[in-house]
Amino acid sequence: MHILGISAYYHDSSTCIVRDGKVIAAAQEERFSRKKHDLCFPVNAVNYCLNEAGISAKQLDAVAFYEKPYLKFERLLMQFIDTFPRSMSVFVESIPSWLSEKLLVPKNIKDLGYNGKVYYLEHHLSHAASAFLCSPYKKAAILTVDGVGEFATTTFSTGNDTEIELFKEIHFPHSLGLLYSTITAYLGFTVNNSEYKVMGLAPWGKPVYKEEFDKLIRTFDDGSFELGMDYFAYTHEKKMPSKKLEGLFGEKTREKESQITQFHKDVAASLQAKTEEVLFHLLENLYSETKLENLCMAGGVALNSAANGKILSKTPFKRIFIQPAAGDAGTSMGAALFVYNSIMKNPRQFVLNSAFLGPSFSDKEVQDYLDKNSIKYYKFGSRAEIAKKTAELVNNNFVVGWFQGRMEWGPRALGARSILSNPTNPKMQGILNLKVKHREKFRPFAPVVLFEEVNKWFECDDPLPQAADYMLMVYPVRKEKRKIIPAVTHVDGTGRLQVIRKEQHALYYQTVQEFQKLSGVPIMINTSFNIRGEPIVCTPHDAYKCMMGTGIDYLAMENCLIKRIDNPKDLWDSEKMATD
Ligand SMILES: [Fe+2]
Repeated sequence: MHILGISAYYHDSSTCIVRDGKVIAAAQEERFSRKKHDLCFPVNAVNYCLNEAGISAKQLDAVAFYEKPYLKFERLLMQFIDTFPRSMSVFVESIPSWLSEKLLVPKNIKDLGYNGKVYYLEHHLSHAASAFLCSPYKKAAILTVDGVGEFATTTFSTGNDTEIELFKEIHFPHSLGLLYSTITAYLGFTVNNSEYKVMGLAPWGKPVYKEEFDKLIRTFDDGSFELGMDYFAYTHEKKMPSKKLEGLFGEKTREKESQITQFHKDVAASLQAKTEEVLFHLLENLYSETKLENLCMAGGVALNSAANGKILSKTPFKRIFIQPAAGDAGTSMGAALFVYNSIMKNPRQFVLNSAFLGPSFSDKEVQDYLDKNSIKYYKFGSRAEIAKKTAELVNNNFVVGWFQGRMEWGPRALGARSILSNPTNPKMQGILNLKVKHREKFRPFAPVVLFEEVNKWFECDDPLPQAADYMLMVYPVRKEKRKIIPAVTHVDGTGRLQVIRKEQHALYYQTVQEFQKLSGVPIMINTSFNIRGEPIVCTPHDAYKCMMGTGIDYLAMENCLIKRIDNPKDLWDSEKMATD
């Protein structure tokens, strides 16, 4: 039995295919279309999933869509009416996209060649399912927190085998996700893209704006919260912060790319502190209502790895599960699993143990691509040589593009489409920024660390949650180790680590091991294989193009090693290259 899950139209469209209850493939549309956070109906991701399953759309048994478009439309209409006439211009602007695409989901699904049953699930139910139904728990408390779905912005549920029972929800416009996004916009960053940059900025500041944030959001004893809506404009305008919010802080919204001052850092720190306070308040309440020690979390706020790293020490929960695509992209997986397990009443067959669910390319496919385009390369003799040579290059302070195996599911590069470099070199952050990333100086790079070594280097929860495998848990670097890995230690002494286990990606694991033999450090810098503003690479052509457009020194792509300076730039024109 094959069930296809689809999420589309807001940000990070994605598709997932479930065969007999097991996820066999999942990917975001942006990786294929090369448009960051692509929100179109994910035709390319659908084709990839169907190919991976070896079936056509006609052979699908069911399609699951991650939300109820008509219910969402109803909320928007109510919102426009409530705030009329201030909302008039936003209303006029948004209607065409509803009529031309967002309400045409049934037609788009039919156009794939599928005429069977389509299940439309509520947005937050898809989030809840995306966390619980692929978790290792038979019973768990589930919290979903995001910007907004149809009406809900936060839900409390319990998961019991194949059942998910929602018992409390908080509705739009009161939203912890939209508070974070509003301050993201106020600080001059892009909403639905740069919230994690604000999280990275926070440790540079002090949470001195407590009083102001107490006015923006208030919590109540029943576990709910409310925003002070006068400070927010998103119900009726295109912008998110209101004039009153600017008055509250005494500064105007920061212009994009303009200077970041101590004020901005302190606002970011205050936002992060308030987010954690509200999140722990929600979790305390969820625990007291359920008395369950296992926690599953999803929704955009569950990507806040700095908050996640504190949950087990600050709340009564003993274990936590967050899947790599905790944001909206993950809802295609939740929707498909919910149909299989909860609607069709089939027993659970799947636990998500790895993020490698995307496309891969064989040695031969990579070599054919390189040969067709007359690209010079060295062919490795064995997998062991790939690991050894890459570790040597990293130890010699080269920046290495790393393209090995199935692409990652979720927003983070986890060793399939990564850029690897030396964490012991204090200059490496600057080198990476100069050669490739061009990212804001305040943002740290992330380390990958061998699972068996993590406790020696980081102060982690014990036992270590699997969410640490997906860069979803920030932990303090042990004090005595901070000077050894300066390039991945943030200003507050923490690291947004990825833990790698041998069974997830043996070659990547072995490469970090080889680096440990040379440097004494079981850690590398792992940053995503892309340049600023572009999605992570997907195909050999994307990877080669990214290397040639940057200062990446080498590319270890399956069993081939390509040296950038062996391939003169004047012989390279990506538009004329064969891409398959
Ligand atoms: Fe969501």
